[in-house]
Formats: sequence, structure tokens, C-alpha cells
Amino acid sequence: MSNTEQTLSIIKPDAVERNLIDEIKNIFIQNNLNIIDSKKIHISKDEAAEFYKVHQSKPFYNDLCNYLSSGPIVVMILEGEGAVFVNRKIMGSTDPKKAEDNTIRKLYGISIDKNSVHGSDSLENAQKEIEFFFKN
Ligand code: CMP
Repeated sequence: MSNTEQTLSIIKPDAVERNLIDEIKNIFIQNNLNIIDSKKIHISKDEAAEFYKVHQSKPFYNDLCNYLSSGPIVVMILEGEGAVFVNRKIMGSTDPKKAEDNTIRKLYGISIDKNSVHGSDSLENAQKEIEFFFKN
């Protein structure tokens, strides 16, 4: 049975700054995630705050919003079999120090803040996050 899903991925400012866009996109492609839309944008702090509002009660929220709006990012729609789970698996743990070998965050992440990529954590959030960046 086919289980084609779409998920949202963001290449964060630390990775864009280090010219890692093509390397990270290649990892998605090698793992059967098709990049069906992609754009490089620079969002405002208010937009970052809206995007990350699920984290608004967290102590790191303000820094997180400052960070995501600190420089260009690449937002992508990834599509493939079980895309939400596959993307989270290849990203690795949030904290690069704890990420599994050969995951994007292990290979490229600098810290828990500068962890190179974001990926939707559920199908429901994937739909909301895709809508946020691509449907308005
Ligand atoms: P991301 O997947 O983009 O979702 C929220 C982000 O908050 C997360 O990646 C981290 O970069 C960042 N963050 C900063 N501090 C923490 C923390 N203590 N726990 C979880 N996420 C954190």
C-alpha cells in the first residue's frame, strides 16, 4: 500500500551560510524524498515567531525566532513514501551531539540552535507548515 506524504524541510541560516544547500538536498534525493518545491527566503522575526508559535512557552523561544530570521533559509516541500518519518530519521536528533552517525545534524549541525535543518514532526504539522510557507 502506498503511503506518499509531503513534509516541510528548512535549511537553516547556519547551513545556508556554509554553502551546504546542495549537499543537504542530495541527502534528501538519495533517501527517495523528492523536492517538489524549494525557495530561498529571508523571513522577519515576526514571521519566525508565528512559524514557531508552538514553542512560545519555551525558554529558548526568543533566541529561536531571532536565529531563524538572522539570515537566508531554504524552505522545501519534500514528497515520498512515509516522508515525515523518513525526513526526521535522516535529520537525526535535535541536538547534533546526540544525533546518530550519518544524519544531517551529525554531519553538519553546530549546536542545538544551529542544527542546520528543521523538519515537520507529524503529518498534521507538515500540512500546516507547508501552508505557512507555500500557500499564501
Ligand atoms: P527545530 O526542529 O527547528 O524545532 C525547534 C528548534 O528549537 C529546534 O529545532 C532547535 O534548533 C531549537 N532549540 C533550542 N534549544 C532547544 C532545546 N533545549 N530543546 C529543543 N529544541 C531547542
